[in-house]
Amino acid sequence: MATQSNRDKLIHQLENKFNDIGQDLDTHLEGLLYSEPITYWDYIKTDALLNLQLQRTTLPDEMVFIMYHQVNELLFKMILWEIEQVAHHKMLTAEFFSSRLMRISRYFDMLTSSFSIMQDGMEVDQYLKFRNTLTPASGFQSAQYRKIEFASTDLINLIDARFRETIDRNTPYEHALNHLYWQAAGKDYKTGKKSYLLSAFEEKYKNEFIVFTKEYNTINLYAKFKELPKEVQQDKKLIKAMRHYDHTVNITLVMAHYNAANHYISGDKSSGKEIEATGGSDWKKYMHPKYQKRIFFPDLWSEKELNDWGTNL
Ligand code: HEM
Repeated sequence: MATQSNRDKLIHQLENKFNDIGQDLDTHLEGLLYSEPITYWDYIKTDALLNLQLQRTTLPDEMVFIMYHQVNELLFKMILWEIEQVAHHKMLTAEFFSSRLMRISRYFDMLTSSFSIMQDGMEVDQYLKFRNTLTPASGFQSAQYRKIEFASTDLINLIDARFRETIDRNTPYEHALNHLYWQAAGKDYKTGKKSYLLSAFEEKYKNEFIVFTKEYNTINLYAKFKELPKEVQQDKKLIKAMRHYDHTVNITLVMAHYNAANHYISGDKSSGKEIEATGGSDWKKYMHPKYQKRIFFPDLWSEKELNDWGTNL
């Protein structure tokens, strides 16, 4: 039970709060008399959330596919939420940085370990049928996944290794975006022609990505790390958290994903016939970390570790 003096203090604080915005406290208190108590379903918005799972086929396992993608997108949102707090922090400490990185890594660990839901949780036959209704869409077109990358490292580390020499901080954003590593999944480099997967994605998100990369140019996780005083950059816990994050996103998760793709679309072993990815990429080559060599924090790995990235998998 609140004591009288506590209540007086609260009323006083409320009076100040409402005075500051030119509002009358009594009116708001009277409003409380008639307001409905909150319920779980109103607060969590369960009705809205549970009405977002709409199949395109009658195959039950399509529901697994849709819901697991939605779970991923929710976790991506949680990850971006944490990155944003580190990125906009004005007085960053090693402790805050590593605690938030560990939160982010826990989300990614969860995504990685749960990826078996994709690999083992659907019947191959059903998957091969319902996937035809979602061609040419692909998880490749997840904007939040791309934003996580932009917010994690300097843009140069996301540029296709073949073009890194030609790009620096003065390169216009639009040109740099055209040479990101993921362009390789949707571009014929001889003709420069973009696949529908890529052009539709860019039409929807390119402008948003340019604004986002500009914002994170100097405040991405790697930039924030390099801005810390030298002695803080040596903090063992922080380095461990950074390396764990880099490894989880760019090797462990990528491999879980690659193995799931292999399970469904590696081809018909008896006929040797290849199955094309819904997004149409040369995925076996594109997705493997040893080819992509996407590394968020290159200074935190030795020369040998960088060279060996993804090769022993
Ligand atoms: C059976 C399940 C899955 C299969 C077979 C699969 C397959 C693929 C393939 C082949 C690609 C390469 C691009 C293309 O040609 O489509 C790709 C890219 C991608 N997928 Fe999936 N995927 C699966 C589940 C998921 C899930 C659950 C997510 C979570 C959102 C996801 C997110 C992505 C992302 C972000 C990319 C781009 C990766 C990159 O650029 O390195 N995928 N997927």
